[in-house]
Amino acid sequence: MTEKKTPLRSAQWFGTADKNGFMYRSWMKNQGIPDHEFQGKPIIGICNTWSELTPCNAHFRKIAEHVKKGVLEAGGFPVEFPVFSSGESNLRPTAMLTRNLASMDVEEAIRGNPVDAVVLLTGCDKTTPALLMGAASCDVPAIVVTGGPMLNGKHKGKDIGSGTVVWQMHEAYKGGQISLDEFLSAEAGMSRSAGTCNTMGTASTMACMAEALGTSLPHNAAIPAVDSRRYVLAHLSGMRIVDMVHEDLRLSKILTREAFENAIKVNAAIGGSTNAVIHLKAIAGRIGVELDLEDWTRVGKGTPTLVDLQPSGRFLMEDFYYAGGLPAVIRRLGEAGLLPNPEALTANGKSLWSNCQASPQYNDEVIRPLDKPLVDDGGLCILRGNLSPRGAVLKPSAATPELMQHRGRAVVFENFDDYKARIADPDLDVDETCVLVLKNAGPKGYPGMAEVGNMGLPPKVLAKGISDMVRISDARMSGTAYGTVVLHVAPEAAAGGPLAAVRNGDFIELDCANGRLHLDISDEELAGRLADLKPDTSAKIFDSGYARLYVDHVMQADQGCDFDFLVGCRGSAVPRHSH
Ligand code: FES
Ligand code: MG
Repeated sequence: MTEKKTPLRSAQWFGTADKNGFMYRSWMKNQGIPDHEFQGKPIIGICNTWSELTPCNAHFRKIAEHVKKGVLEAGGFPVEFPVFSSGESNLRPTAMLTRNLASMDVEEAIRGNPVDAVVLLTGCDKTTPALLMGAASCDVPAIVVTGGPMLNGKHKGKDIGSGTVVWQMHEAYKGGQISLDEFLSAEAGMSRSAGTCNTMGTASTMACMAEALGTSLPHNAAIPAVDSRRYVLAHLSGMRIVDMVHEDLRLSKILTREAFENAIKVNAAIGGSTNAVIHLKAIAGRIGVELDLEDWTRVGKGTPTLVDLQPSGRFLMEDFYYAGGLPAVIRRLGEAGLLPNPEALTANGKSLWSNCQASPQYNDEVIRPLDKPLVDDGGLCILRGNLSPRGAVLKPSAATPELMQHRGRAVVFENFDDYKARIADPDLDVDETCVLVLKNAGPKGYPGMAEVGNMGLPPKVLAKGISDMVRISDARMSGTAYGTVVLHVAPEAAAGGPLAAVRNGDFIELDCANGRLHLDISDEELAGRLADLKPDTSAKIFDSGYARLYVDHVMQADQGCDFDFLVGCRGSAVPRHSH
């Protein structure tokens, strides 16, 4: 066998002239693989989340083909394998319920198989964190190739954005401003090509996070799914991962504390999704990097939002790529001294700054200059107080500035079924000064912490032309959504958090400037109510099955909603033989 500087992990399967080597090679040969493919070539796993039930990732077999061409050109041997595909649009009760399941699938598939490195094909929201979490727990060389966003949606001559237009048009329909026919007519125009949501929703945010963390080649986040340059990037990533094996460039050398600080900064600059808080924490936990909610304030606060994309702004991902994409944003941050760790290492072996320092920028409307930001302070707001002792999150760029300082009367929904049953009731005692409170929609409560935190406003408020109210829950919200929405309240109601104690008529204070969320009752009253709590049973969890495992082991939002037993890096030591 050919000698390499770094001994290949895969040689422990294919590199021996004995009974085990015979077995490992022989069955692989049924695919028509000649002898020389086993002789010291890096075996590159292509971890594919392709699924026709994950429409955002349905074009991934073609992307995998281009990755394979690159791997072969660089002297590696590509092997593609499927992993659980957590698709946002179809999976019920929420794709978040299966993010950790997918991460387990990825981790065990890598560790148990003859791969020296992996290309992670990610797209729809949860697929990016799931694959990075699984690969990080193995700490092999890995590179992310994202499927890319859909082309801009089109409807009646205007651009419309994935998800965002659904929320907007549904409110307009409920408020009586548009007809049902008009609402439904936007469906086909919103999703008119392969790819992920074209807004700065969670998929685009996580693609930007993967690039800012250094785990992909530059421009991976924004090239549209159907742009031929997406396939070029896939090819180049396939070539690059082979070199990463020879350089032993493992994830732990890229996913450093410095890289996460860069990502937090970039999230503020792009107006990224609140879901990034949970996913980055979960990824950091796998690779052994300390990251907590206060890092979002410490690093992100004061960072202007430069990218004018929906849901916070006007444009879509296609425009973002043509304007220069993420490297142009990182250049603007770096030139203003706002990139915390320019020297952080990336997948191509260069620093983040050397990748971006000369990146062209073509459109000041889409990627705004520092002196004309979309939002002056785009850092996510972390809120603590007697209502959220372990934190809650609000996205200022998606909120109404006047409501970010607000005291209002609580209108409480015990769970999502209760919300749906009563929100449209004309007799509901609510006006626009109230605070809508939703309980039991967190990690254990829903289960899976669904994206129901941006609960729609009562129709009778919408009919007045009001478009925003303060809303508070232990849920998440879609990255495509907007509003003055307090999310991720921890501990959640179902874990006995103080949110469970809120009653109709209580007053709640939201003070974003000071990071405070306060329920206006005495400590004694709060303790008394918590002692009297009855568990919510709306979720109907079976005694067995995956949801049981999930509810028993999921951690709270401030800990990234990972399973308690999955935290940490277990490495890629080769397990014992199977025979
Ligand atoms: Fe898949 Fe938005 S639903 S990326
Ligand atoms: Mg989403």
